[in-house]
Amino acid sequence: MTAPTTKSPRLLLIGANGQVGWELRRTLAPLGRVVTASIEDGTDYRVDLADSESVSRLIRETRPDAVVNAAAYTAVDKAETEKVIAERINADAPGMLGALLKDSGIPIIHYSTDFVFAGDQSLPYREDDPTGPLNVYGATKLEGERRLLASGANAVILRTAWIYGARGSNFLLTMRRMFAERDELRIVRDQVGSPTWSRMLAEVTSLVLHRLLVGDLDVERVKGVYHVTGAGQTSWYDFACAILGSRGEQCRLLPITSSEYPAPAKRPAYAVLDNTKIWETFGVQLPDWRQSLRLCLEELD
Ligand SMILES: NC(=O)c1ccc[n+]([C@@H]2O[C@H](COP(=O)([O-])OP(=O)(O)OC[C@H]3O[C@@H](n4cnc5c(N)ncnc54)[C@H](OP(=O)(O)O)[C@@H]3O)[C@@H](O)[C@H]2O)c1
Repeated sequence: MTAPTTKSPRLLLIGANGQVGWELRRTLAPLGRVVTASIEDGTDYRVDLADSESVSRLIRETRPDAVVNAAAYTAVDKAETEKVIAERINADAPGMLGALLKDSGIPIIHYSTDFVFAGDQSLPYREDDPTGPLNVYGATKLEGERRLLASGANAVILRTAWIYGARGSNFLLTMRRMFAERDELRIVRDQVGSPTWSRMLAEVTSLVLHRLLVGDLDVERVKGVYHVTGAGQTSWYDFACAILGSRGEQCRLLPITSSEYPAPAKRPAYAVLDNTKIWETFGVQLPDWRQSLRLCLEELD
């Protein structure tokens, strides 16, 4: 008997050293040959998304069958004073990737943020709700969405939020470090959102990409923006309590308001995203944020 000769797709993963990118290296592996790219060393290719020649060279040389872009300018507060570079990476680069992939119909999965919204709703945001970013980072990410969609590429944009995980710079790891160092911590309680485990987001990405590669969906119909976060909602204060609860440390947590913790970039007060569309389109159900947190903590402890 002869085995079927199906070509293994080349999956280009940009931003393979970020917190989501690191998880994607693992979750994309069963779908094909993962070719990694990053601005740092330690990946197959070096790319600087702020440099258009570097981006087009990457696509030319890797000849991918699909692209996942997990790279971004993510320093939310710094972006307030570094608008030009944030725009190049978050807005220009996705538009350019779209333009480079459009003619071949190669699918691209890209990430955006809850920060595209103003946070003045009281019900979870749906994909077509009006946007209104409060800070430069959110504005550049929104522009990136627009440019990628306008390019006409087969793009799926996953808007996510409050990412944490075993690697990178995130709230969970910061809290765990500070619980050990401090007797008392003041945490914002008037910002509400949905903690999202980087591993879970990477798994969802792979499920979506699998459907795009298998070709059982009409790509023209399914391309667009989707919300993907942990299900449910909480505040930073209650998120910190849930992390602390698992540790048995003696740190006292005090709830404060955003005005007591001023930061250069304004954040939305209510940033809960409605995950219904990804379920209806791709059959992907998002687990409750507490369930994912437990699984992540089990791995860390
Ligand atoms: N983190 C969150 O809570 C959150 C929330 C909503 C949406 N998102 C979105 O989710 C996606 C993944 O975020 P993440 O948390 O995994 O981000 P991350 O950990 O900051 O990773 C982003 C990666 O992009 C790389 N990068 C930065 N500038 C680059 C450039 N000019 N060229 C190439 N690579 C560059 C970074 O490298 P260096 O580290 O060397 O700079 C880093 O490895 C992003 O699109 C982000 O906007 C994140």
